[in-house]
Amino acid sequence: MPLSKHICLLGFMGAGKSTLAEALAERLNVSWIDSDLWVEQTQQRSIQEIITAFGWPAFRSFEHEFTMSMASREPSVISCGGGFPLAKENWHWISEHCTSIYLKVDVELLYNRLLKNQRSRPLLANLNQESLKSYIASKLMEREAFYERANFIVNGNGTVPETISLLEALI
Ligand code: S3P
Repeated sequence: MPLSKHICLLGFMGAGKSTLAEALAERLNVSWIDSDLWVEQTQQRSIQEIITAFGWPAFRSFEHEFTMSMASREPSVISCGGGFPLAKENWHWISEHCTSIYLKVDVELLYNRLLKNQRSRPLLANLNQESLKSYIASKLMEREAFYERANFIVNGNGTVPETISLLEALI
């Protein structure tokens, strides 16, 4: 059955949004779009390079441009950068055009995953192992109220097939 709205996966860095969105899109036979990848492709630079060259406010406004680029797209599965839903205008767009799903993952698991690719993430790159864990815990606590506004909350602590089954049950 065709989707009536986009499906938008929200959550913290390392929650598995991109992997799950890609797999879910394949199952549903619709496109997968990642807000970070869209920004990287349109700017022809990595997120790290964008932050270094232009700073965070510019990156956040590129993220917002992503919502405008979606106006002409068929309903798709979208993985959103971890900070994307925090901006009021992005949240407004999500609530109007998407079925939103928060992938809720425990701090311990996020930490174990992020430890492996910390360097490629500008918010985490300069933290040592000890401060990485406390940063994740406090940032997640700060953001969770935003993520929890999603239409659905799904436990993302399981394997990809387990989480996909949970997601499919909602759609
Ligand atoms: C960010 C998350 C990243 C990326 C940027 C900022 C955040 O995306 O958009 O580094 O503020 O949480 P992922 O959640 O896909 O890693």
